[in-house]
Amino acid sequence: MSVMRKVLLAGSTNPWLRDRATKTAFVRRSVSRFMPGEHVEDALRAAAELKPQGITTILTKLGENLTGVEEAEQVTLHYLDVLDRIDASGLDAHISIKPTQLGLDFDRALCERNLDRLVERADALGNFLWIDMESSIYVERTIELFRRARTQTARVGIALQAYLYRTEKDVESLVPLGAAIRIVKGAYLEPPTVAFPKKSDVDANYLKLCTRLLAPEARKPGALLHIATHDIALADRLATYIRDHRVPASAYEFAMLYGIQRNQQARLAQQGQRLRVLISYGEYWFPWYMRRLAERPANMWFVVRTLFG
Ligand code: FDA
Repeated sequence: MSVMRKVLLAGSTNPWLRDRATKTAFVRRSVSRFMPGEHVEDALRAAAELKPQGITTILTKLGENLTGVEEAEQVTLHYLDVLDRIDASGLDAHISIKPTQLGLDFDRALCERNLDRLVERADALGNFLWIDMESSIYVERTIELFRRARTQTARVGIALQAYLYRTEKDVESLVPLGAAIRIVKGAYLEPPTVAFPKKSDVDANYLKLCTRLLAPEARKPGALLHIATHDIALADRLATYIRDHRVPASAYEFAMLYGIQRNQQARLAQQGQRLRVLISYGEYWFPWYMRRLAERPANMWFVVRTLFG
């Protein structure tokens, strides 16, 4: 892992930096590249703008590790409202939540109840709820939450991170369920005891996990693979695999983050590939923004250009 990536990821959890940065106009300006705004209305507008290109979306409110249990209730009510708004808008937009936003750090039973409420509403509206994967200390509990929700509906999916050694086993254990799985490389600062330190190993594992999930025996009712990456070489290799193995279009979607690799997003959509763009919004964007910078240190130049531009 590069020194710059380590520094940016360490900075992402620093409260002093967060306070300073979020009040700085140039940082706020550069964030807008990855985030259409702080409110759900901004995200819905961005989703509507992507629709003519045939690009569908996932909406997620930024924020993690709540400071009080009452915030979990607010987040739950917010997402219930978002599900209703999506329904009224006629957009094909999923939602994606973080278990810590629903209260996992405070009270697991509360988190389960909140998730139940959201899963029930998503199911009733014929929508879909994704569970993000946070840092490695949450993986076990997040998978348990997913398994529980999956007994209620197939309209729920989970993100798994290719940088973790354990993910191969987790994938194997979830295949029999017919699970919707979003494979990502992984965005947090993890020690070499739990995660591959070398990017080439993460990339190789990514390919391995996706091909496993695209195999005929993994295609059970409810199964869906989200190939969530901006790594175009990897996405193209998987597209070739899909073509060569005649994987049905219903088995997978590509997924990318709003504002990243826009040209490639348009290219995939023009090729007729199903592409879902994850749109983040919310006031609590600092740690998320630092993780985006860490993914591509060249983005720092963008910040510098914004500062002097
Ligand atoms: P990689 O980092 O190798 O990047 C490949 C190329 O893409 C780079 O060379 C660059 O050109 C471009 N690129 C990547 N990131 C960029 C950026 N920020 N700005 C500009 N260019 C960039 N993580 C997690 O831990 N839990 C989760 O639940 C999720 N959820 C999630 C959903 C979706 C839809 C996506 C696309 C990603 C996530 N992630 C995530 C984030 C993920 O783990 C990972 O950190 C990023 O996607 C970056 O990794 P890539 O796979 O894009 O490859």
